[in-house]
Amino acid sequence: MKEVAVLIGAGSIGQAIIRRISAGRHIVLADYSLENANRAKEILENAGFECSTIRCDLGNKDDILALVNYATNKGCIKYMVNAAGVSPSQAPVEEILRVDLYGTSVLLEEFGKVIAEGGSGVIISSQSGHRLPALPQEQNDALAMSPVEELLSLPFIRSISDTLKAYQYSKRCNVLRVMYEACRWGKRGATINSISPGIIITPLANDELHGPRAKGYLDMIAGMPAQRAGTPDEVGDLAEYLMSSHGRFISGADILIDGGCTSSYWYGDLQYLKATH
Ligand SMILES: NC(=O)c1ccc[n+]([C@@H]2O[C@H](COP(=O)([O-])OP(=O)(O)OC[C@H]3O[C@@H](n4cnc5c(N)ncnc54)[C@H](O)[C@@H]3O)[C@@H](O)[C@H]2O)c1
Repeated sequence: MKEVAVLIGAGSIGQAIIRRISAGRHIVLADYSLENANRAKEILENAGFECSTIRCDLGNKDDILALVNYATNKGCIKYMVNAAGVSPSQAPVEEILRVDLYGTSVLLEEFGKVIAEGGSGVIISSQSGHRLPALPQEQNDALAMSPVEELLSLPFIRSISDTLKAYQYSKRCNVLRVMYEACRWGKRGATINSISPGIIITPLANDELHGPRAKGYLDMIAGMPAQRAGTPDEVGDLAEYLMSSHGRFISGADILIDGGCTSSYWYGDLQYLKATH
């Protein structure tokens, strides 16, 4: 039976990951924008990969169930990568929570039912979740273990009114949910982890670097230990490690890949960002 690698969010980071793990496998490219998925398909097929595409809104449970059905008909699910998401400047609060928090949780649950033995998954979270102070244990437990259909009704989630907080809670939820799901995925002999990237140069980040907020971005980069932004390929290398035999003892983990930006935010030159970020 053919092995399948599923990518949700066929953007820059997603493509960098999928091309490292998919030689000889069938790639299912799922994206809210079928145009983006088809563009990625063309690039990947010209590089020797076998792909198919399906439209899927991560924030819609029916779309996720249709994706699982489509992918399992192609073969056994060896890898699942979620690199879809909406950022604080791209969408209102409800949309960020629906896609990044609820949708990712549904995705983890549904692929946890079909992942192959020896399979692996990676969820792209964000350094932004690491800027949220520690939450009370009851809130951690609620984000990690509540039934998915109850997540958006949690009182502390319902009270979020700004997009940055919505994004940060969503990304914190991704990390906690991955810990919870690692216990279930492990029963099938599979691993699941999250990666929290810092500033990674993609078309979106490039727009910011040349737009009205460029100075803020450049100051942030200058104040980071690495003193540069990251590349999708560096995130791809980390994901490849986690999903390869080297990473078989790693599950339920979140790995920051941010050039030290989070360290600087809490304890270094970037502490001034605490007032606004
Ligand atoms: N680029 C960065 O600096 C950075 C930093 C931290 C975290 N991230 C996270 O990495 C992930 C990917 O970001 P990227 O920089 O590769 O962006 P990108 O814009 O290149 O790719 C994102 C893809 O997700 C798709 N998408 C958006 N909403 C969707 C939805 N509801 N359902 C399905 N697909 C959807 C888009 O169509 C796009 O193809 C996101 O979760 C983002 O939050 C990015």
